[in-house]
Amino acid sequence: MRQTDHPVWEVVIEFHRPEMEEWLVERVMAFQNSGMYWTVQGPVLSAHVFTEAPPEVRSLWEELARLDPEVQVRQRILKYRDWQRQWQRRWRPIRVGRRWIVRPPWREARPEDRDRLPILIEPRRAFGTGLHETTQLMLRWMEALDFVGRTVADVGTGTGVLSIAAARAGASKVYALDIDPEAIEEARSNVRLNGLADRVECLVGSLEKLADGSVDFLLANLELEPLIEALPAAARVLRPDGVGIVSGIFRHHHPVFQEAVRSSPFRITGQRRRGEWMSYRLTFR
Ligand SMILES: C[S@@+](CC[C@H](N)C(=O)[O-])C[C@H]1O[C@@H](n2cnc3c(N)ncnc32)[C@H](O)[C@@H]1O
Repeated sequence: MRQTDHPVWEVVIEFHRPEMEEWLVERVMAFQNSGMYWTVQGPVLSAHVFTEAPPEVRSLWEELARLDPEVQVRQRILKYRDWQRQWQRRWRPIRVGRRWIVRPPWREARPEDRDRLPILIEPRRAFGTGLHETTQLMLRWMEALDFVGRTVADVGTGTGVLSIAAARAGASKVYALDIDPEAIEEARSNVRLNGLADRVECLVGSLEKLADGSVDFLLANLELEPLIEALPAAARVLRPDGVGIVSGIFRHHHPVFQEAVRSSPFRITGQRRRGEWMSYRLTFR
């Protein structure tokens, strides 16, 4: 959301259709000037939406009421400073494993975190603020990899979080790929914020951008289907002794993913679970 003196509306929504999380986020992010944060607890999706455009909220409100007759919506006007304070207070540094700390640029590092590698992320629209379990699973695996002097592909980079982590850990070249041009814009800006633009190349697209046998590590935090679809291309771009780390697979989809890996050149050589999410280490057979 750009800096402005206009008043900002804070709209608090309690929506009883948690399965429509993605739809609601997309819907709000299509507003002219907006930001939001949300939580899902049991059957309730609670969202705080910040916007300068009340008419857009009114039409969303009507849509929500059609989908959930019990929906609750409260709104109030904030001054820009209040909005900024609320937004910033929300984002705290996230320590992952022993190696990383993901933090927004306005949070200073604490002395006790000085041995952690900092990943600065300006939370905006793209996925990858470090809060999500699937991102944390990826970072956990990455802790044990020796990135020094290696080439890495990060498929579905979002904010660039994993690419920044790999470069911080010493990778000499990282390809941050995403099919969403807006995500790539955000990734580029975060990569610059971390001073890593000389080693992280952000590209709109996917593995088709990379040459055969060109990467040592392949990172992919995607959903089940895109991950399965990416397996042949992953096998093409990875070096024979390369390692793939993947996440984003719902626990119940484990057998489907396992089956897909069986009919690919890879085998699963490690797996981790966090909450409902699975993540895997893949190497060539
Ligand atoms: C779950 S987010 C992961 C973001 C970040 N890497 C993380 O771990 O937090 C997945 C991202 O993958 C992108 N994406 C989905 N399918 C893709 C594909 N086939 N190739 C490249 N990017 C893809 C989406 O646009 C989205 O930004």
